[in-house]
Amino acid sequence: MNVAIMGHGVVGSGVAEILYTNPETIAKRTREEIVVKRILDLRDFPDSPYADRFTKDFNDILTDDSIRVVVEVMGGIHPAYDFVKQCLEANKSVVTSNKELVATKGAELLAIAAEHNVNFMFEASVGGGIPVIRPIHQCMAANNILSVAGILNGTTNFILTKMIEDNMGFADALALAQKLGYAERNPSADVDGHDACRKICILAALAFGKHVYPEQVHTEGITSLTLEDVSYAHDWGGVIKLIGQTKMLDDGRISIIVCPMLLKNSCQLSTIDDVFNGIMVKGSFTDDVMFYGKGAGKLPTASAVVADVMDCVKHIDTRKYLFWEDNHDPSYVADYLEQSVCLYVRTEKGCKDCVEKVFGPVEVLTRDGAPETEFAFITPRMVEKDARAKLQTLEEQGVEVKTTVRVGEI
Ligand code: HSE
Repeated sequence: MNVAIMGHGVVGSGVAEILYTNPETIAKRTREEIVVKRILDLRDFPDSPYADRFTKDFNDILTDDSIRVVVEVMGGIHPAYDFVKQCLEANKSVVTSNKELVATKGAELLAIAAEHNVNFMFEASVGGGIPVIRPIHQCMAANNILSVAGILNGTTNFILTKMIEDNMGFADALALAQKLGYAERNPSADVDGHDACRKICILAALAFGKHVYPEQVHTEGITSLTLEDVSYAHDWGGVIKLIGQTKMLDDGRISIIVCPMLLKNSCQLSTIDDVFNGIMVKGSFTDDVMFYGKGAGKLPTASAVVADVMDCVKHIDTRKYLFWEDNHDPSYVADYLEQSVCLYVRTEKGCKDCVEKVFGPVEVLTRDGAPETEFAFITPRMVEKDARAKLQTLEEQGVEVKTTVRVGEI
């Protein structure tokens, strides 16, 4: 079975490496030899064992009828979207690790794949090497999915772990993550939460059957967190993690958010450190199911891509049922400000009396070495809009609100 790979970056070169180094096992499991016929990249790779298969011309892949499965690991939307669409329309199955593509064009590309009786698969787009897409849509298929919550970005989890465990500053931890190849080319995609947002959109679409677009999701990153916040969380008996969370509400709408959350040490997601991801899925019959593993990195991610290629090869003339509807109804996603929350708040010039006059009784937090002028607390549970209004009132009274973090309920 001839396949092509579009992109020879971190993941693409990993896909080529796995297909080159593990052909017997792969052939035994697919009952077919998988041959890399073409690799699309604008650069030359004279030292690659596939050096003679490189092309700079997409048409070499598109017009080659012997290529039945195409891997897209270029990342971004352009030209990935056009190339993938054309491959599906040319009756080729497509496998991608590109979460931006799936989160923004997934419903459309799944519909095109269905129309052409080919497969569009994207296990590696969420959780890198962790099996999560296939388990949700196959193994948990008899359940109604009630909620999904996860640490979906390895880079930010690595950074937060370094801040928590090594007292390392944010910039140094980010530089280390980049050096280790975890971070996206543009670190904003990781640290501002966009990467996690795309992943929770994909999981929400899969869980609830309707596309959710990233711009519908309230997204906050980790750039405003400080070692002081990490320290308050520690003394409270917890940690701060970047969480993507979505829930089915009683009225058929969903809540969905990406933001740092304060988690008690007893929460399973609090124990997931370094570049690892953890995803907790609540099914109506299974209750909580947890997925854990390396959410980033060349070979873990590439192994998930290759497994999808193998699945496509095994199902070359049948379509696997993996589908969700497109959806542009803005009311489907509930306003995050209408949800009820408890907020961790770190202030300058706050005090128990002045805060409690506005909020009622609060949980006062402590940390070693806090200056006299610093005051941190957790609000009582209330609708977030009301909590924000009360913070505004405090600021009008001269209290400086430095950080707010939602207390997670997973
Ligand atoms: N930059 C991403 C992460 C890579 O750190 O999780 C995998 O999507």
